[in-house]
Amino acid sequence: MENHTVVPRHRRIILFPLPYQGHVNPMLQLANLLYSKGFSITILHTNFNKPKTSNYPHFTFKFILDNDPHDERYSKLPLQGMGSFARVLLFNECGADELRHQLELELSEKDVSCLVTDAYWYFTQSVADSLSLPRLVLRTTSLFCFPVFGSISLFHDLGYFNLSDNANMEEQVVKFPVLKVKDIIKTGFKLQTNSILSNMVKHSEASSGIIWNSFKELEEPGLETILRDIPVPSFLIPFPKHFTSASSSLLEQDRTFFPWLDKQAPNSVVYVSFGSVSQVDERQFLEIVHGLVNSEQTFLWVIRPGFVEGSTWLESFPDGFPGERGRIVNWAPQQEVLAHEAIGAFWTHGGWNSTFESVCEGVAMICSPFYGDQPLNARYMSDVWKMGVYLENGWERGEIANAIRKVMVNEDGKEIKERARNLKQKLNVSLMEGGYSYESLESLIAYINSF
Ligand code: UDX
Repeated sequence: MENHTVVPRHRRIILFPLPYQGHVNPMLQLANLLYSKGFSITILHTNFNKPKTSNYPHFTFKFILDNDPHDERYSKLPLQGMGSFARVLLFNECGADELRHQLELELSEKDVSCLVTDAYWYFTQSVADSLSLPRLVLRTTSLFCFPVFGSISLFHDLGYFNLSDNANMEEQVVKFPVLKVKDIIKTGFKLQTNSILSNMVKHSEASSGIIWNSFKELEEPGLETILRDIPVPSFLIPFPKHFTSASSSLLEQDRTFFPWLDKQAPNSVVYVSFGSVSQVDERQFLEIVHGLVNSEQTFLWVIRPGFVEGSTWLESFPDGFPGERGRIVNWAPQQEVLAHEAIGAFWTHGGWNSTFESVCEGVAMICSPFYGDQPLNARYMSDVWKMGVYLENGWERGEIANAIRKVMVNEDGKEIKERARNLKQKLNVSLMEGGYSYESLESLIAYINSF
């Protein structure tokens, strides 16, 4: 493999993210990184959830797949939650011709090295093949999730999704003993999502290589499995350490709380945020409110508009909440918040970006997963990395308050926080010349140059 990292600016990479915050962020971080290494960048995107292009004057944007506002196939699709799979499925089924046409145009005008797409855009593999264009895959979750997702039919055959006996929920998962059966059930991945997952895995394995938002020292066993079982090269790049995701935010970020945060003592504030798509009902919302109050800790809580089902924003607060101890914002520059010295813990839904941003900043976690990869991330966070508490029994104010106090106040919390800081330290070493993360980026650039 050639090993030169500086390339003439005219070589172009076309990147195509899935149009959701948790996928747009890592793809645009990767785009910035590739640009910093000398490549020209074109971003293909749907009009749905389009990022703020003015934040990227150095990129070319092309909008595809949903340009016709009268096409009812996508104008009626759900915007939130697991319903987003319907959009992904639809475009995977009907997007090939339009993508091919767009790529043919690009290839006729420019010197394109490769296409990088989200792993869930599996329809892009055959299009890229038909144009002899190498396709790299960006996988926006952990390495350890990949073989788990590839085993959903096995879990189905084992009857995990039909269990009526609660006792089985605590059992270890076949092939993945770190996980409990209830973690698998919580993914929500039953048969209807099975084809999306198996296609995602199959077409990732047929690509020219996979880029992961992670680092070796965090996922040694996961990496061993991937290197053994996946026939294409893998590159592990910890994106948040290279670029923040602030510029790809799909919502306006509130910064007005920073003077308040600056006044808080180091390690004294719990940052609370449950990502860009998850929703709670009113009962769960009140458990969160009371859990926070009962923990007696200072908190900064991101409540996204639409987070509480059926409400627009803050109608459901009990009188007097949040009071002196709390600040509520509707969206925040999360990485900057996690890096702030006042933050002592992150109560998260365990989306991979949030989990990984917390790891990158050495912040201990409390985790309340909803679905998808989140329960698996929560399990690793608590049982493997031991850098936080997994609230595995749902939303209950007493358990919430105890978990927050365990991390923030109790003796156990000191060790938990120490382990979180150690992981950050390992990552920093890995990024230094000669470290795995440093070398992985170098070899990705060399690999792209070899196309
Ligand atoms: C989804 C899935 O839930 C997640 O599990 C999967 O790995 C990727 O897609 P999401 O639920 O939004 O993503 O969670 P997460 O992966 O944590 O991504 C949220 C992103 O929004 C993070 O990069 C975070 O920094 C950002 N964010 C969140 C903000 O910029 N401001 C906020 O106030 C909250």
